[in-house]
Amino acid sequence: MTEHRCRISGAPLTKVLDFGRQPLGNGFLSPEQFASEYFYPMELGFAEESMMLQLIEQPAPEQMFHEHYAFYSSTSRFMERHFAEFARQVMDSGFLATTDPFVVELGCNDGIMLKNFAQAGMRHLGIEPSRNVAEVANSKGVRTLSEFFTEDLAAQIAKTDGQADAFLAANVMCHIPTIVDVVKGIRALLKPTGVAMFEDPYLGDVIEKTSYDQIYDEHVFLFSALSIQHLFGEQGMELIDLQPQTTHGGSMRYVLAHKGAHPVSERVTRILDRECAMGLDRVATFDEFRKHVERSRSKLIALLADLKTRGKRVAGYGATSKSTTILNYCGIGPDLIEYISDTTPIKQGKFTPGMHIPVKPYEAFTANPPDYAVLFAWNHAEEIMAKEKAYMASGGKWIVHVPKVQVLG
Ligand code: TYD
Repeated sequence: MTEHRCRISGAPLTKVLDFGRQPLGNGFLSPEQFASEYFYPMELGFAEESMMLQLIEQPAPEQMFHEHYAFYSSTSRFMERHFAEFARQVMDSGFLATTDPFVVELGCNDGIMLKNFAQAGMRHLGIEPSRNVAEVANSKGVRTLSEFFTEDLAAQIAKTDGQADAFLAANVMCHIPTIVDVVKGIRALLKPTGVAMFEDPYLGDVIEKTSYDQIYDEHVFLFSALSIQHLFGEQGMELIDLQPQTTHGGSMRYVLAHKGAHPVSERVTRILDRECAMGLDRVATFDEFRKHVERSRSKLIALLADLKTRGKRVAGYGATSKSTTILNYCGIGPDLIEYISDTTPIKQGKFTPGMHIPVKPYEAFTANPPDYAVLFAWNHAEEIMAKEKAYMASGGKWIVHVPKVQVLG
């Protein structure tokens, strides 16, 4: 058997959780694709040397981020606002040069954040490997290269455009298995006073809420401040600030700079201490996590089986990538969940990866509401609760699984 090694430290990985055979989280498909559907063994490993929780195996990036990639950031109004605020924070941070600053964003998607810099007339560059999404960004006036970011590409950009004042990324860094090379690229690309600011789903939240659905093929890493401090520390950089975010069910924004370039916020020490107290640096913590995940699975299956026995109609709300992990790990198919409604046109009429539950337009939900709706898009709960007053008023109930499996409403 091949020994699996930590992508950061090279140390052997300790297996902490096994989700079984999983399809691609975002691999919504048509019946004629069922027979050739791609599956891989989804297991989580941890290495105390790097303190990095990671997938042991990951499908090749070409399987996931290609010309048919079905994720466009700008479909959510809430996320539009979030990224406008992120851009505003960068512009007001004092880290950008007063004359001709240059901002680079990795995984700029359709330009949801970078367009704010473009509109302000600022020099910018997006790097987006999914060609179809990069084309949308370019068409919006956001200068975008369709490439994978590497140390070599960083050196080329620094040569042609000059070094950058800010390197940004949102929900991208945790996708990249070759992250050490990316960090080397960031170091090469940033000016001596430059900063990297990026955010990703936060391990602290996953542990606290048992939100194991954050784990799917695209999320090769689940970061903590400890693991990020270590990863960048190895390359002569350091964490200078941290800002918890509510997006994606609990994220963390990390601010990094060349060592000694900027003062370090007291928040960094506070959060690092809290993570040590939570045990995010120890393998034993993930053994506890596994027990919580297994309990969550048993409760969800029991609840859905009970509703079926009682003849209740159950649908899903939001065909998220996260739901793929839950459905496949718990073995929940169309016998327990009639359909999942989703507002994204390219998902509608398709079937969920692995378990093949039909994905229907939102209108299917409003036209014939179920007795219970499983809130797979729980990270958008606030927006959805505000929108679904009529569903609740007519007796519709919600099933949520974070922070624990329960019925609401
Ligand atoms: P997202 O938050 O991107 O989660 P993931 O990264 O796990 O895929 O996806 C949210 C999904 O939920 C997206 O497909 C759109 C859908 N959605 C609705 O159908 N209705 C809504 O009101 C909201 C907010 C989202």
